[in-house]
Amino acid sequence: MDKRNDIPAHIPTHVGIIMDGNGRWAKKRGLPRTLGHKAGGEAFVKIVTECRKIGIKCLTVYAFSTENWKRSESEVTALMSLMKEYMVRYTDDLVKNGIRLRILGDLSRFESATVDEINKRIELSKNNDGMTLCIALNYGGRAELTTAVNKLLRSGKQEITEQDISDALYTASLPDPDLIIRTSGEQRTSNFLLWQSAYSEYYFTDVLWPDFDEKELRKAIEEYSKRNRRFGNS
Ligand code: FPP
Repeated sequence: MDKRNDIPAHIPTHVGIIMDGNGRWAKKRGLPRTLGHKAGGEAFVKIVTECRKIGIKCLTVYAFSTENWKRSESEVTALMSLMKEYMVRYTDDLVKNGIRLRILGDLSRFESATVDEINKRIELSKNNDGMTLCIALNYGGRAELTTAVNKLLRSGKQEITEQDISDALYTASLPDPDLIIRTSGEQRTSNFLLWQSAYSEYYFTDVLWPDFDEKELRKAIEEYSKRNRRFGNS
């Protein structure tokens, strides 16, 4: 334990988060689901800041899955406008603060003006080395693998290696996640980083995403630091 700030000595390099429970958080308070997402956005800002402070090198958050398009039109519209707000306004601060931004997912269904703004920030931050923040947007692990395999087929390869697949994924060159946190009591992987999570440790908590704060993050990291990772060895 680092005595100065209660950070365990053994911290994960890459943390993935499935930010779940915004809807239930709102329902418990008699609020519309969209206000749950807004509160989820505030928790996202808090957690990005804290991860940077702790010294996490890479953080990936699951912001919008390929399945989320099936939600009601009004919820999808609200989520899109929230994403746009964060991608454009909030990421400016991140970029200024040394964070490298990456997007995991297929942006072709997003408005081209938003995609341009996102790409601008990715480009501007590409040499930042404070922390890499990956936002999984219109992301699904199966879709990612299918896209990667098609890319490899088009390259004309007759035989492929595991490394070829890793290099063709959205996460190319990033370390695999050491720890994946899922909030709200659900214990599923929900198509998140399927290939990359082969040896990840999972941490499930009943806390709903808008209530997941710095203290909860530190609890997850402390739990991780106590686990003995074997990578298939005895
Ligand atoms: C899951 O809760 C959450 C989402 C589908 C959206 C996540 C979005 C945010 C946290 C907002 C902003 C984030 C970024 C990166 C811009 P749910 O609606 O499935 O909750 P429920 O299971 O209780 O219904």
